[in-house]
Amino acid sequence: MDKRLGINAAIRRFYSQKPVSEDLLQAILYSVDAGGKRIRPLFLLELLEGFGMELTEAHFDVAAAIEMIHTGSLIHDDLPAMDDDDYRRGRLTNHKKFDEATAILSGDSLFLDPFGLLAAADLPDAVKVGLIQALSRASGTFGMVGGQMLDMRSEGQHLDITQLSAIHENKTGRLLAFPFMAAGIITEQSQEVIHQLTKAGDLVGHAFQVRDDILDLTASFDDLGKTPKKDLQAEKATYPSLLGLEKSYQLLNESLNQTQSIFQELHEFLAFHPEKIHDMLERLRLHA
Ligand code: IPE
Ligand code: IPE
Ligand code: MG
Ligand code: MG
Ligand code: MG
Repeated sequence: MDKRLGINAAIRRFYSQKPVSEDLLQAILYSVDAGGKRIRPLFLLELLEGFGMELTEAHFDVAAAIEMIHTGSLIHDDLPAMDDDDYRRGRLTNHKKFDEATAILSGDSLFLDPFGLLAAADLPDAVKVGLIQALSRASGTFGMVGGQMLDMRSEGQHLDITQLSAIHENKTGRLLAFPFMAAGIITEQSQEVIHQLTKAGDLVGHAFQVRDDILDLTASFDDLGKTPKKDLQAEKATYPSLLGLEKSYQLLNESLNQTQSIFQELHEFLAFHPEKIHDMLERLRLHA
């Protein structure tokens, strides 16, 4: 089955019950259906297959849960009180299409619903508790939301690289690292392997925001589906603003190299099949 379709179907399945408010459901699905690269859920599914698992509906539920939180984070990130963006995933942002209250509530739903979805998934209880804890940590005060707070406070400020890295690690890194950790939890790996997977996830997570910062400067609206050069306008602290473009490309590619080595080791010691993950990581490379 096409994995993207499977992820979309799992989100649809969750929202197929009769909602309290049709307007809320319509706004949630507007942002979910706008597409997006689905990179977080795809990492999870490719990792599970890399570990030799046959994908089940429950795996797609976990994949859907990550994508729901991510989509909620984008809706809130675009709000006038935050980055104030008019376009996302090639469409008007949620608050532009509907209104601010609807966008805030759609984000709230997309943050809270995934935990119920995970709790109901057909997986062993211990696995589900581990996933719920890790997803809460990656998303909330100790992850994405915490990082967004640092990001908001950094506008117009001059940060050093340590401060900037802390923003990236949290606002984007933790949620991108979640699928790596989740794959270890679902396949019930040893603590040592989960540690290696988490290291790989952290590297990819950090690299992904460096990439997003580079693309803000170098890509077009058609490529991004969002307004380019917004970071410059908002005086955001970014890797290119601090280190320049060339060094940013270098950092991105070095993090990807390090990640590839971790999967090569997992391949040698655990018979992990790295091909699909290798290809996904290679597609994240950017060249000046
Ligand atoms: C954009 O994420 C926001 C960041 C955390 C950098 P993505 O680049 O994954 O956005 P979509 O899901 O493809 O729209
Ligand atoms: C987004 O960072 C981080 C989130 C938690 C959504 P950005 O603000 O750089 O993401 P874009 O560029 O608007 O997608
Ligand atoms: Mg932002
Ligand atoms: Mg933004
Ligand atoms: Mg950005």
